[in-house]
Amino acid sequence: MIEQQICAVLDRMRPEARLAVIHGGDSRQPQAVVYSTRNPRSSKTYVDVAGDIAESLRANGFRHVCLLPDDMTLPQRLRELKIDMAWLNTGGTQGLTSACHAASMLELCGIPYVGHNPLNAALLDNKHMFKHVVSSLGLPTAPYVTVNVDEVSQDVRRRPDFIKRFASYSGDFVVKPVSGRASLHVHVASLADLMDAVRAVFDATGNTVLVESWLSGAELTAGVSGPVVCRGGQVTLGSSPFVFSVLERLFDTGERIFTSKDMRPIGLDRLRLLSCDETETTRSVTLIAAKLFQRLGLESTVRADFRCDDRGRVYLLEANPKPDLKAPGQGVVSLMAAGLHLQGLDFNDLILTLLADRVHQLLTRRAEYAVALRRFVPERTGMGV
Ligand SMILES: Nc1ncnc2c1ncn2[C@@H]1O[C@H](COP(=O)(O)OP(=O)(O)O)[C@@H](O)[C@H]1O
Ligand SMILES: [Mg+2]
Repeated sequence: MIEQQICAVLDRMRPEARLAVIHGGDSRQPQAVVYSTRNPRSSKTYVDVAGDIAESLRANGFRHVCLLPDDMTLPQRLRELKIDMAWLNTGGTQGLTSACHAASMLELCGIPYVGHNPLNAALLDNKHMFKHVVSSLGLPTAPYVTVNVDEVSQDVRRRPDFIKRFASYSGDFVVKPVSGRASLHVHVASLADLMDAVRAVFDATGNTVLVESWLSGAELTAGVSGPVVCRGGQVTLGSSPFVFSVLERLFDTGERIFTSKDMRPIGLDRLRLLSCDETETTRSVTLIAAKLFQRLGLESTVRADFRCDDRGRVYLLEANPKPDLKAPGQGVVSLMAAGLHLQGLDFNDLILTLLADRVHQLLTRRAEYAVALRRFVPERTGMGV
C-alpha cells in the first residue's frame, strides 16, 4: 500500500535526513548580496514562522533541522551542511519576483524542497499574472486592469481597456500592489479618486498596480494542499487535493478591506469556521480551491483568498504562495491552522502533511529531481526511484 511506503520513507528520514527551513534574508548582512537593492514585495523575513516550522518538524521526530537565510550564501551552506531537503518559508530577500529566487537556487543545486517550483512561485506572487491565468482557466476573479510602471503617469480611466472592462460598472475600485502581503497598500477608491490611489500604490512599491472592481460581500479563505494527509500518525492518500480551514473573515461595521494582521492580530473573534460543504458559498470555495490546485499543477500548499459580490457570487482574490504557518498560541491563530481540528488535524499534523505530500509527489512523479531522497527509500517500495 502506498500509504505504508510513504510512512517507511518518513521513518527513514526522521533520524537521518538533514532538513533546512529557509527564511527571507537580510540584504544588509555581509555576503548576502552583491548590491543591496529593494524588495517591492516587503522586507519581512518570516524567520519566526520558519522557527515554528522547524520546531514542528522536530516534534514530528526529524532530528536534524536547521534554519537558513535565502541569500547568496545559500548554495554554499546547503552543500556544507549536506542538506537533503529544504522547506521554503521565504518571500525572497530583494529584487523583482523575489518569491521564486530560493526555488530557482534549489532547482539549480538539485536539492528537493517543500515549496512551489519557480514558475508557480512567480505566478502566484504576481497577482496580475495570476489573474490572467485563472481567468483563462475559467475561474472567477474580479474584473481588472493593470497599470504598468511606464503607464503610471497616464490616466488609466481614459484607457480603452479600462472603459471597456468597466463600461457597465458604477461601484468603487480596489487599487493594490501586484506583489504584496497582509492588505498593505490596498485602497478602496471611487472613480474620481482612482488616480490618487494608483499613485499612492506606485509610490509605495515602485511596481505594477492592479485596479479591480470592489467586491462588497463576505470574505473567505481556504487552505489547499496535495492528496496526502497525515492525521494523528495515520497517512492517507486521497484522490483529490485536500481543502482545509475554510473560514469567513469577519468585518467590523464599515470595514471595507480586511485589516492587516500587522495592524491588529487575527484572533478567533475575527473568524468564523465553516465546513467545506456547509453552504453553496463554501462548496464553491472548496471546488475553486481544488480546481486551482489541479489546473496550475501546484506542488505545495497555498491559501486561497475569496470575496463575494453583492449577490453572493464567489471570486478568487489571490492564492498566497507562502501562507502564514505560524504555530497557534496566545489567542492568535493563522488562517491555515484555524480550522484544522474540524478535519481531525493539529498544527504538527499539517506540517507533516505538507512534507509527506511533497516527498510522495517527488518520489513518484519527479524522481529525477529528488536524487537526495533516494537513500531514504527502502528497497522494493516501488516509489519511482
Ligand atoms: N477586489 C476586491 N474587492 C474587495 N476587497 C478586496 C478586493 N481585493 C482585495 N480586497 C481586500 O483587500 C485585502 C487584501 O487583498 P489581497 O488581494 O488578498 O492581497 P494581500 O492579502 O496580498 O494584501 C483582502 O483581504 C480584501 O479584504
Ligand atoms: Mg490576501
